[in-house]
Amino acid sequence: MDDRFNTIAGWTLFGGIVALGLGSLSSHYFMADKPERPATMGYAIAGVEDAAGGAATAVEPIANRLAKADAAKGEAIFAKCKACHTIDQGAANGIGPNLWAVIGDAVGVGRGGFAFSDSLKGKGGKWDFATLDTWLTNPKAYADGTKMSFAGLTSPEDRANVILYLNSKGSNLPLPAPVAASAAPAAGAAAATPAVAMVGDAGAGEKVFAKCKACHTIDQGGANGIGPNLYAIAGDAIAEGRGGFAFSDGLKAHKGNWDAATLDQWLAGPAKFATGTKMTFAGLDDAKQRADVIAYLNSKGGKLTLGAGAAPAGAAK
Ligand code: HEC
Ligand code: HEC
Repeated sequence: MDDRFNTIAGWTLFGGIVALGLGSLSSHYFMADKPERPATMGYAIAGVEDAAGGAATAVEPIANRLAKADAAKGEAIFAKCKACHTIDQGAANGIGPNLWAVIGDAVGVGRGGFAFSDSLKGKGGKWDFATLDTWLTNPKAYADGTKMSFAGLTSPEDRANVILYLNSKGSNLPLPAPVAASAAPAAGAAAATPAVAMVGDAGAGEKVFAKCKACHTIDQGGANGIGPNLYAIAGDAIAEGRGGFAFSDGLKAHKGNWDAATLDQWLAGPAKFATGTKMTFAGLDDAKQRADVIAYLNSKGGKLTLGAGAAPAGAAK
């Protein structure tokens, strides 16, 4: 379950940002104004509650998993897809479209006139290894109105295997180069995402925090609002205390203390980090803004040493 969580929160981050950000051209918006959100959150996704309990251990980037993947195993996993998909060239569409040569092909377009959902059609771009990894982790999270009623593949290895298999069926794209070990997230929590390799600027972070003030106070002893007071949150326990604030079960399922990596993942996509979270904030898609606001949070009574153990800037992605 750790793997699943991290894939959602970490290496599929960019895909998630696309999913969250599509409805808005600005870098952030409150999802609270979207009436369809409760329905989306209520969609049953097997294994997701488990995922919410995951700690901040690392999942390997898709490039590294693909280098070790096995197309034969992927073919076996594809049995799960066969209820809805054919894969051979020229085979008929079923409940889902035929998937011959899908990698490198346009998302939600063509496929013999398959009637894609508006949600998937709206994504634009082409399927690549990373977007497929995100999609197959949780289709509904990638495209919230998708017609693919499939909960997703929780195992990062299974996803890599099936993607390698898909690639062998008409796409045959060159595999991405594995990320160097020094930049891989296994080195430690502080290096789990590119953003935390950045040392933020607390002054700039204070400006970013204007977006948070609708729901949070930050000064010592400040009242809880829609969200809890955040004084000394950096290094403090996740979803505990805070003057008895009524946290969601999704966030409470996370154990341990907030560190730079978990804060980064949380602020990138709260709903991905903690399924069912009460923080109806789409997330900050700009890694620099996240680093800045984390530095600002830390400057307000926090206990973290930021920047320690960080990967070389820009190395991972
Ligand atoms: C219950 C049926 C069902 C299952 C099971 C299923 N899919 Fe799908 N799939 C669909 C439907 C329906 C769509 C079209 C989604 C839309 O329009 O939103 C789709 C779309 C896709 C697409 C996008 C195609 C395109 O041209 O953009 C890919 C890739 C895909 N599925 C892969 C898989 C893989 C791999 C599996 C197994 C791990 C799988 N699917 C399991 C029904 C299913
Ligand atoms: C629309 C209201 C809203 C906005 C905007 C918002 N939050 Fe939150 N925040 C909440 C709520 C509600 C919770 C409790 C979440 C839960 O229980 O799932 C929360 C929880 C948190 C927590 C975890 C606190 C703990 O004790 O574990 C942090 C950290 C946090 N928010 C930071 C931020 C930052 C930084 C921003 C701005 C970039 C922000 N929030 C924007 C409502 C909001």
